[in-house]
Amino acid sequence: MQNQSRVSCAGFLVIAASRILRKDDSIMTFEQIQYLEKWFDQHVRGFDGEDPDVSENIRLKVTHTVKVREACRRIAKSLRLGEGDRLLAEACGLMHDVGRFEQYARFKTFVDAKSVDHAELGASLLEKESVLDSLRPGERHVIIRAVRYHNRLSLFLNDSPRVLFFTKLLRDADKIDIYRVVTDYYRTAHVRRNEAIQLDLPDTPEISGQVIADIHAKRLVKKAHLRTLNDFKLLQMAWVYGFNFAETCRIVRGRGYLEKIRQTLPDTDEVERLYQTLLSDLKARCGRLETGRTGDGSGTRGTGDTIRA
Ligand SMILES: [Fe+2]
Repeated sequence: MQNQSRVSCAGFLVIAASRILRKDDSIMTFEQIQYLEKWFDQHVRGFDGEDPDVSENIRLKVTHTVKVREACRRIAKSLRLGEGDRLLAEACGLMHDVGRFEQYARFKTFVDAKSVDHAELGASLLEKESVLDSLRPGERHVIIRAVRYHNRLSLFLNDSPRVLFFTKLLRDADKIDIYRVVTDYYRTAHVRRNEAIQLDLPDTPEISGQVIADIHAKRLVKKAHLRTLNDFKLLQMAWVYGFNFAETCRIVRGRGYLEKIRQTLPDTDEVERLYQTLLSDLKARCGRLETGRTGDGSGTRGTGDTIRA
């Protein structure tokens, strides 16, 4: 009985997604995304050089782009979107960090606060270089908005449902891969720091009271509350409160990302309590997203200033 209701709720969600998308279904084609892929490769090559640090950081972003694109497609597929909309979701993933390469070339960092807003830079580049000209205006608009908003603290709710939908999808996909990047990074940072992605937060054992309070209140951690690298790790774990799609929760649970971050935090009772809270809230959110009952305007709040992978 429970399974039956789960299936019908999942069906309801698919119908809900199709209602948002029905009016303007994308007719994006495989040839169009192939063209975007070629443009992206050529664009990236223009920034690569002989410096091994530059090459390493460019590779980091290219791999991230590939993975975010894959995650976009996976979420789109889980919602049973049509092929055109799946390709549109992929295009958002492919282009979302296109501003990173110029950002690194100019400032040698990926920290926006020390340089420029890479999302804004990427969106402007797509407009300035007419990269998306072969697409219909509606599709161009979705990609540029999704790229521009993907790292924002909050979304503009007065934008079209279609823009909001693809932006939420991209934000979830981005977080999924940031978990991959940071879990690898936290494991090895003591051996080899990457200055391009390291925040200025001290790697000391403390956890701020306000961060603990945010998690106990079951909300996203505010960037203003961060005092240590541990706070930042907890901010990332607390993204569970902003996930928009059940598939995101399933992937994050399946890959054990919360557990992997927890292993790099101090072994204290407080940390264990926070971890258990987050773990059970992730499971609960997964259930609510599967049945369409988040009840909190999920996905309209941002990720804070992250190590943007
Ligand atoms: Fe980004």
